[in-house]
Amino acid sequence: MYQFIRPLLFSYNAQEIHKKSIEVGKKLKRLRVSRIIKAVYNFQDKGLMARVKGIDFRNPVGLAAGFDKNGELTDFLDCLGFGFIEIGSITALPKKADNKNTIERIVEEKAIVNRMGLNNNGADEIYDRLKEKNFKIPLGINIAPTNYTTILQDRAIKDICYSFGRLYSLADYITINISCPNTEDARSFEDKLALDELLSALKEKQQDFKNKKPILVKISPDVSYQSLDNILNIGESKGITGYVIGNTSSQTNCLKRDPLISGKFGISGKPIREMSTGLISYAYKNLNNPFIIGVGGIFSAEDAYEKIKAGASIIQVYTGLIYEGPGMINKINKGLVRLLERDGLGSIKEAVGIDSK
Ligand SMILES: Cc1cc2nc3c(=O)[nH]c(=O)nc-3n(C[C@H](O)[C@H](O)[C@H](O)COP(=O)(O)O)c2cc1C
Repeated sequence: MYQFIRPLLFSYNAQEIHKKSIEVGKKLKRLRVSRIIKAVYNFQDKGLMARVKGIDFRNPVGLAAGFDKNGELTDFLDCLGFGFIEIGSITALPKKADNKNTIERIVEEKAIVNRMGLNNNGADEIYDRLKEKNFKIPLGINIAPTNYTTILQDRAIKDICYSFGRLYSLADYITINISCPNTEDARSFEDKLALDELLSALKEKQQDFKNKKPILVKISPDVSYQSLDNILNIGESKGITGYVIGNTSSQTNCLKRDPLISGKFGISGKPIREMSTGLISYAYKNLNNPFIIGVGGIFSAEDAYEKIKAGASIIQVYTGLIYEGPGMINKINKGLVRLLERDGLGSIKEAVGIDSK
């Protein structure tokens, strides 16, 4: 069905379609047709269920950060069959999108080039919207530094700690996004000293709360293995629970065509699949008791299984959803059950990391 309406959707500007999808999602929830949608899209199987770091996931397929930046669809997205969702990136101060913030499709490569510079409603407004809600599936909250030219280094650490403290009670896990390529300074936390300071400050802030929730760090697929080593070592020493691998890439050499892309941008979709799988495998081999969320170029059950076998406990999708439609989640879950059976495995947990041992 989606394959038939896709040409029509793709004839519109991608930001417009994104805005419309958020509006439609909100309306569908209000119209109370969610039961019908649920009946069409949901799929349950014991083999897909996983308990990771104290969180129960009904299946391993989650929505990646960036789609529901403001947490407007938390009442609706479980109907589509997701096992969990990650909202954000959320920043301490709100930031409106401007005409430089664009989303562009490269259809022949099943890729997206985005220049969405962490625009969102800000931690306070989003907290107020979500504070009374009961979430049906685990909720990850992705936090990033406010993308203002004046919020750098120490101010950025305070800024992230503010959002962390504000949103902590709502989340099942928190992701710290140190890898957004379309911002003034977000990737500066890949520097050893800066990351050490940031994670120390967050661990200290976490002392304010009784319940110790998982904290994950989101990594760029463009990091070198040496830089990844540094991030993992600092993360381990600070008691970071896990990693989201990875974000979008700003390396145009992952594309087949000669791209005329300039400025700050992030590429997602098929071209980054292998890059992220390679980093997942490396991280899995080098971590004790790893919790990795695998993301980047997942369009099918086979792609998801590849990430899981490389070392991801659960996975996320974004660009695949744009190209394949919401039915993709159900297809991935059904396909995973088939692949587990083919390999004589009883659960997702048994498949995690088998290609990286
Ligand atoms: C339009 C767009 C906006 C995004 N915004 C965010 C964001 O705000 N925070 C974040 O951590 N990742 C963001 N991402 C990255 C995705 O969460 C994901 O890591 C990346 O797209 C790779 O997955 P994919 O190939 O399945 O899209 C964004 C991606 C896209 C395409």
